[in-house]
Amino acid sequence: MPSSKSPGQAVPTGADLARPGSVRLDHVTHRYGRGSEEVTAVGPIDLNVSPGEFLVLVGASGCGKSTLLRLIAGFEQPTHGSVQVSGTEPRPGEAAGVVFQQPRLFPWRTVQGNVDLALRYAGVDRDRRPQRRAELLRRVGLEDAGKRRTWEISGGQQQRVAIARALAAENPLFLLDEPFAALDALTRERLQEDVRRVTAQSGRTTVFVTHSADEAVFLGSRIVVLTKRPGTVALDLPITLPRGDVDAEELRNSGEFAELRARVSHAVKDAAAA
Ligand SMILES: Nc1ncnc2c1ncn2[C@@H]1O[C@H](COP(=O)(O)OP(=O)(O)O)[C@@H](O)[C@H]1O
Ligand SMILES: [Mg+2]
Repeated sequence: MPSSKSPGQAVPTGADLARPGSVRLDHVTHRYGRGSEEVTAVGPIDLNVSPGEFLVLVGASGCGKSTLLRLIAGFEQPTHGSVQVSGTEPRPGEAAGVVFQQPRLFPWRTVQGNVDLALRYAGVDRDRRPQRRAELLRRVGLEDAGKRRTWEISGGQQQRVAIARALAAENPLFLLDEPFAALDALTRERLQEDVRRVTAQSGRTTVFVTHSADEAVFLGSRIVVLTKRPGTVALDLPITLPRGDVDAEELRNSGEFAELRARVSHAVKDAAAA
């Protein structure tokens, strides 16, 4: 199995795998349906994510990316093997903040109403909520949109609200399932830059699903390419592009970026054809 680990990359130790924000998949297989309807969506797959890593899962449509994310979120239990987040079995709604392809906001609430609800669910005291809400809206660039209804703002802004809401819970894991797939190219690039910055600041572990090699290389500190269904690891690639405060345009135009993008793109095509 092709695997690419740089010699300098830290291999997580036992203690690491119980730390907040760690993810551990041990020989995970997931099947849907029964009998002749049975579909093995993923596995067997072993995957460890260290606290603070930004892991991007890439693969063709139907290879099991969303299934893997749902297993990590605790929305599904594996048919075989075990999933652990921060050293324990993930509980839905508690393990991670999740952002989906569609923002899934409450349309009868304002922008700030949507964030407030998430803060309430997260158990943040009523008197602390306005301050937390202001911080979150500032982080996603919506400080002036709090009073607007969700149908009055653009698709890109709605997805920013969904990101703020997912960050409200303060849990150490942030999961995103093709969150920008429905957006236009310009909005997508801007939100990619936001997510890169916001996750670097928060230090959270992030698992991001996409089928775009370009998006994967821009965002990830590590990329895992999945085979076609049932998804297993085809390539595990550390991304050494500079993180933190970088000029996004410069990064996207660099030779190193182009090389990595080509490599990931080839791996995705090979994996889909194999
Ligand atoms: N709830 C479900 N019931 C039955 N089959 C499912 C269900 N969800 C996904 N699948 C199947 O599992 C496979 C992987 O799906 P999914 O994880 O959504 O892939 P991806 O996100 O990579 O497109 C697909 O063949 C899909 O049809
Ligand atoms: Mg999917």
